[in-house]
Order: sequence, then structure tokens, then C-alpha cells
Amino acid sequence: MITLKSIALGLGLMVLSAHAADLSGTWRIDTAKRGGVVTHTYFVLQQKGRVLTGKVVINGAVDLPLRNPKIEGSDATFSMDWGNSYRVHPEGNTLKVAIRWGTTKTEATAIRVPQAEANPPPSQMLPAMAVVRANGLAATPPMGWSSWNHFGDGIDDADVRGIADALAGSGLAKAGYVYVNIDDGWEGGRDAAGNIVPNAKFPNMKALADYVHSRGLKLGLYSSPGPLTCGGYEGSFGHEDQDARTFASWGVDYLKYDWCSAARVYSDADLEQAYQWMGQALARCGRPIVYSLCEYGMRDVWTWGPRVGANLWRTAGDIQDNWRSMSEIGFDQSRLAPYAGPGHWNDPDMLEVGNGGMTATEYRTHFSLWCMLAAPLILGNDVRTMAPDTLAMLSNREVIAIDQDPLGRQGRRVASSGGIEVWTKPLADGGEAVAVFNRNDREAAGSFTWAQVGFAARPGHVRDLWAKRDLAPAGEGLAQRIPAHGMWMLRLGR
Ligand code: GLA
Repeated sequence: MITLKSIALGLGLMVLSAHAADLSGTWRIDTAKRGGVVTHTYFVLQQKGRVLTGKVVINGAVDLPLRNPKIEGSDATFSMDWGNSYRVHPEGNTLKVAIRWGTTKTEATAIRVPQAEANPPPSQMLPAMAVVRANGLAATPPMGWSSWNHFGDGIDDADVRGIADALAGSGLAKAGYVYVNIDDGWEGGRDAAGNIVPNAKFPNMKALADYVHSRGLKLGLYSSPGPLTCGGYEGSFGHEDQDARTFASWGVDYLKYDWCSAARVYSDADLEQAYQWMGQALARCGRPIVYSLCEYGMRDVWTWGPRVGANLWRTAGDIQDNWRSMSEIGFDQSRLAPYAGPGHWNDPDMLEVGNGGMTATEYRTHFSLWCMLAAPLILGNDVRTMAPDTLAMLSNREVIAIDQDPLGRQGRRVASSGGIEVWTKPLADGGEAVAVFNRNDREAAGSFTWAQVGFAARPGHVRDLWAKRDLAPAGEGLAQRIPAHGMWMLRLGR
């Protein structure tokens, strides 16, 4: 029976459904970057009633599924694995988007675009598998500086010159930190001939390389085997040899090659071939260029990295400036010790020392652990303004010598109990570096026996590398109280 009440209810429902906009579609947010580049993030959404599914194509480069999508009235909220969370609100034919990333909040407007716009270009044929000959570089782990951890994609020409001046002026260059690496954010696009060009923040890359070289340093650059970098800038997809030649013509000495949007055009099974392509391109570009792979450890890169001409390869995801991230990555590296050696190194990511998120004790542990790992020592702080104690830490020659030891063996864990770990690293002079780490949140006793660290008899010489003093070896081993998250690092001679 039709009653007044049911008519009212029906009308009410009609009004409600008229208001409940359908979010389905492809939506694009444009972000204008300093340097004149505009990056695009897409939301590809399907709404069925109160169920929302889809993905975010962050910076047009990386597909990430929606996490915890919720419809709230006419709005929707969702997050994604990089840590961003979003609230979208339909307004006419646009979406008003509130974005939160950590403590940063921004707002943007997304416009509706044809679905095909969010699709990647078609894949391309990869060159057949062939071993790339070793380039003879990086006999010891590369040392230098990279823009990413401190500047993100905001880096510009003046910053790079300032960093080069600071490395040369502070003594860090003399201590071995010679690569000045520009990470993501330098790329402009391509000229009519398809040559990659820098954006407006880098008016003349060749002149910048000359400047860096004039300071006795070397220049590093960054690209991707995919069409776009993780930050949404131009990648080397379809221009591999051309870009290698361009980098060589500018005077580039180091290339970090980051998978990013390559995942949209290749399958994981193509990783080795895609990296081999740039390895070959660098081998024939006419300039020695250190080749740094960044694919976060996928498909056991350490087992094939040397074959594609790599000098180093990332073994994990991105480091963050906190104890948890650093220690999870760093203490997980022992199993990879067999794969490191002169010319080809495991890379647990760039250093965070001096960036402010850890205590001085934790940074000393970070630095010491990286040295025990024969890890590349790529500084990530603003060396123009660093505190004197940061400079002193990064300049400890005796600790650096462990990292740079010519034998080129990576350290490994030999004992672990109650949050105390003992690591050793064999050295060219027949001695051993020994580090005792305390991963606990409180002070604890650390100790080791000579036998545990590879000595049948008492060592002839023991040196504390942070206290910078010799210890008298006695008894069966050594013991010391170690602060929370701290370490004790020694050099033992036969
Ligand atoms: C990835 C890499 C980082 C950095 C950024 C740049 O996340 O792992 O080291 O290069 O891309 O966008």
C-alpha cells in the first residue's frame, strides 16, 4: 500500500542517492615542482555502493593499492603504503583532496581525466642476456654524499656547489668522501632530439660537473630504467644508450639507477635484463661511471649484480632517519656477506648521520655498522651546516679504514644473545675488526672471547677505534658495559 510515509521515504532515498556522488573514474592531481616540472598523481577509483576499490599511481610512477578505503557520506578516505593518507570530496567535476604525509598536510584539486592517461606506455624489447665486463671501479666501497636524505627532490645547482665546497673545506673529501651525487629531482624532460635535459634548477650540468671536479670531487646522477623516476621526473626508458652518452658528455662519474616506474612496463622477471641494458650502455659510453642499482633487493640482486656491471646494489627499501629503520636494515645484512667484494658491494642505503632523528650514540652505531658491512658510505646530511661532533664522527679515519680495507670482505655476525651482537670483519693485514652492538633499550654487558672472533691465541694488538686508545689484551677475551643502542668497536692484530 502506498502511504504518505512510503512516499516520503522514497523521496528521501532519491535525494540521498542524488547526493552520494560516484567517485568512480580516473582523477589527476598536478604538482608544480620548483624547476618547472609538473608531476602527476592519479587516483583510479571504482565505487560500487559503499565499496571503494582502486589504486593510486603516485607521481605517475608507482602503482599502490588503496589501503583502508572508506566512504563517509559523499567523501572517501584511504591511504597507501608510502604513508600518505587522503580524504577526497567531490565538487562538481573535480575532487578536493586533503593529503596527509606524516605531519605535513596539503590540499589539492584532482581533475577527471580519461582512464588511458594513467596507463604506462607499452613495454619494449630488452637486449639479450650477456655478461657486462667489470669496469674496474669501486675497488673499495664508494664514499661520498647524496642529496636525497636531506633535500629530497628540492636540490638545486647552488646547493650542490655549496656541498662540494663543504666536502672539500671540511676535510671530508680528504677522508675519502668524493662522490657528490644528485638524486631525484634534477631532470627536466627531453629536447626535440630525445636528449634528456635538466630542469631549471640546473641551468648547466656540464658546468656543474666542471665545478665539482675542480674541487677534486666527482659528480653522481640519478635515473630510472622506467619512463618516470619515483619522484615523477623523466626516466631513461627507451633512451638507455642515449642517456649514458649524455651523462658521459656532462662528465658524470656515478649513476644510481632506480627501478620505480620500471615495474609498470616490465615484469619482475625482466629486472636483470633491464639493469644489464644500462650496464652495457655505461660500458660503451666512453667514460668510467660507477653503476649503482636501486631495486630494493628484489630477486636477490646480489647474486646477479656483478653480471650486469653493477658496482653496488641496494639490498633493502628506503632507510628512514630513526633507530628502528636503521637497525632493522643494518642488522639484517650479515647473510649477504658472501656477495660483497672489491668492485661490487651490498648497499644498505645512504647514511642518516647528522639528520637529527637519532641520538649521537645511535648515529655512531649506524656509522660503525655500515663500516663493518663494507657498505658504501654516502653521507645524507647537510654537510654545509653540520655540527662539529657530526663532522668528527664522520671523519674518524680508523673507523673509515675498516670500511675501506683493501681486502674488501663484508663483516658478519658471529654471536648474538640477549640483544648483544658480536660482529667481525677480516682485514687485509690478517687482523679483524670486531664490533659489539647493544640493540637493547638499556645499558648491557658486552663481551667476546678471542676464539669467537677468529683468534686461536691472544691477539698481539687491540685498539679501541672510538676511544682511540690501545688496550692490553689479557685473559680469554674482553668485556665492557655498552650503552643502550651503542657499540664498542675494536681492531685486533695478530
Ligand atoms: C627511491 C629510492 C630513494 C630515492 C628516491 C627518489 O625511493 O629508493 O633512495 O632515490 O626513490 O625518488
